[in-house]
Amino acid sequence: MTDLPNQLIDTLRTARHVVALTGAGVSQESGLNTFRDAQVGFWAQYRPEDLATPQAFERDPQLVWDWYAMRRTQARAAAPNPGHLALAEMASLFKSFTLLTQNVDGLHQRAGSPAVIELHGSIQNVRCASCSLHYDSWQETSGEVPHCPACAGLLRPNVVWFGESLPSAALQSALDATQACDLFFSIGTSGLVHPAASLAYAALEHGACLVEINATETPLTAHATHALTGSSGQLLPAILNAYHAAR
Ligand code: OAD
Repeated sequence: MTDLPNQLIDTLRTARHVVALTGAGVSQESGLNTFRDAQVGFWAQYRPEDLATPQAFERDPQLVWDWYAMRRTQARAAAPNPGHLALAEMASLFKSFTLLTQNVDGLHQRAGSPAVIELHGSIQNVRCASCSLHYDSWQETSGEVPHCPACAGLLRPNVVWFGESLPSAALQSALDATQACDLFFSIGTSGLVHPAASLAYAALEHGACLVEINATETPLTAHATHALTGSSGQLLPAILNAYHAAR
C-alpha cells in the first residue's frame, strides 16, 4: 500500500485538464532499457552519437538500422505494464487528458491509451532519409537497410535523433495542452532532453500542479509540487485507487 499525500488526492479529485509526460522509465517494468540509468541504460553501453544522430546514419546506416531493429523486436515482444494501463484508464477520468510520450515503443497505444502524442516519433514505422516519404511497412531483405520504393533512398526509423527537430504538430499540441492544464505529471523521465523536458517548467509557469513520479531524483524533483519516488508501475495504479476511493 502506497501512502499518497492528501493534498495530491484533493488535486486529483478537482483536476479538469491533465497532462502526463512519460519517458523510458515507464517502460522499464515491461523489460525495456532506459537510456541514462547506470549499468542498464543504453547510454551507459553505447554512445548516442554512434546510434542516434543523422550523422551516425550517414556514416554507418547498417549499424543504426540494426540497433533500431533490435529495439523494435524487443518492443514488440514486451507487454504494457500496470503503469501503462493506469495511464490508459486516466484518459476517461478528467475533462481532458493528454498523454505525451518521449517513448518510441508503442506500449501506451497497446495499453489502450487513445491519441498518444509521440514527441520522439515511433520505432514502428520508417521514413525515407532522402525524400521523407513515410511508410508503415517495408520490404527487408536479410536484415539489410531497406530502400524507398519511390526514390530508392535509404529508409530510416521514424524517430527523432539528436540534433533534429521534434514533429511540429506534436510539439504544438504538447505546448497547447501544457499551457491549459491544471495538473501535469512527469513520469519516468530524467528530464534532461529538451524541448520535452521544458514542458514541466512551462506547466508550472502557467500555474499547474506538478507531480513527478520517478525511481530517483531528477533536476525537476526540487520544483515538483509532489515528488513521488518509486516505480511508475506501482505508483500510477496507487494514484488511480486513491482517486476512485476519494470520489
Ligand atoms: P532516461 O533513461 O534519461 O530516464 C529514465 C528515467 O526513468 C530515470 O530518471 C530513471 O530514474 C527513471 N526510472 C527508471 N525505472 C523507472 C520505473 N520503473 N519507474 C519510474 N521511473 C523509473 O529516459 P528519458 O528521460 O525517456 O531520445 O530520455 C529522454 C530521451 O533521451 C529519450 O527519448 C531518448 C534519449 O536519448 C532519443 O533517443 C533522441
